[in-house]
Amino acid sequence: MSPAISLQSEKKMRDSQSENQYQKGVRHLHENGIKKVPNKYIFPIPDRPNMRKESHIQETNIKLPVIDFAELQGPNRSQVLKSLTNACERYGFFQVVNHGIPTDSISSMTDVCKRFFELPFEERHKYMSTDMKAPVRYGTSFNQNKDGNYCWRDFLKLVCHPVPDVFSLWPSSPEDLRDQAAAYSTQTRNLFLMLMRAILESLGLWNAEMNIAEQNEVLQEFQEGSQMMVANCYPPCPEPELTLGMPPHSDYGFLTLLLQDEVKGLQIQFEEKWLTVDPIPNAFVVNIGNHLEIFSNGKYRSVLHRVLVNQEKTRVIVASLHSLPFERVIQPSPKLINKNNPRRYKDTDFATFLEYVSSCEPKKKAFLESRKLD
Ligand code: OGA
Ligand code: NI
Repeated sequence: MSPAISLQSEKKMRDSQSENQYQKGVRHLHENGIKKVPNKYIFPIPDRPNMRKESHIQETNIKLPVIDFAELQGPNRSQVLKSLTNACERYGFFQVVNHGIPTDSISSMTDVCKRFFELPFEERHKYMSTDMKAPVRYGTSFNQNKDGNYCWRDFLKLVCHPVPDVFSLWPSSPEDLRDQAAAYSTQTRNLFLMLMRAILESLGLWNAEMNIAEQNEVLQEFQEGSQMMVANCYPPCPEPELTLGMPPHSDYGFLTLLLQDEVKGLQIQFEEKWLTVDPIPNAFVVNIGNHLEIFSNGKYRSVLHRVLVNQEKTRVIVASLHSLPFERVIQPSPKLINKNNPRRYKDTDFATFLEYVSSCEPKKKAFLESRKLD
């Protein structure tokens, strides 16, 4: 075959799917035995993962700081708080071990999400929605209405709070999904609240000497806060070096609690490099969202991360995203602002964020940048 003809046939293979096919997501492409990544998924060269080159370098893994949750509750609390501060300032990420959420709950949650993605397309399709505010939303890529490039990811998003309001809206199949999601979301919510209390303490905004009324006031709005769970499914990709599971982004809320798969894929930006997270089994990978960066007036960083895909194995992760109630305005804590440390961010709220992501492609840290005061 002449090079011209082979290029032509390759082009045909990459273009052969109709737009309509892409709307069905990447599991569908994988199930149909796709051999080439369609053009729609090919990222511009500078945005590609550069895998071949990076795989020659040994040190691309990053060991995230480890926070021992049990120790945080004991006599070493102040030391653990120091590690927590360091993690939030330097990495924007940390891992939590000894968190008290049973391994069974964790594996059941991951397992039921895996089974959801294995359902026939027609069943999953019932939950497909373009409404960003829908309490249940199944979809593909990042924002499938707006994305120029699609990414190699299917997802299920569940609004989780308050559980009784949303329970009956969650998928009825697999049969145990609602019960597992209810139990898991309650457990992660409690963990989030305990972590948030430690973070507030590390910022000097909460302490055990405050009276109960003061303590409650600080924590109350987090207790009423919003929670969303997202299960991401990254099926095997025939040419992982051409695309991404998720493009570089930072998460919108206060904290995201991520349950990683044994298959690696998450990368974070650290000292201008992309490094792969090597998670401890059953630990939570926690990351700081835009709202905490704003609330801390820039002391704690919401760091860019992205997801690589691979040729061999499906990867399923579950993320739990936490913030204040949806209608609440997020602003730098007045107690962290003074003459030497002036306010660095504008007010923001969830509606502004939704408007932003619905109207344009989420480009890196664009949203957070748009909230910065000059
Ligand atoms: C996210 C995210 C990481 C992963 O859902 O925001 O960053 O490993 N997920 O899928
Ligand atoms: Ni993220």
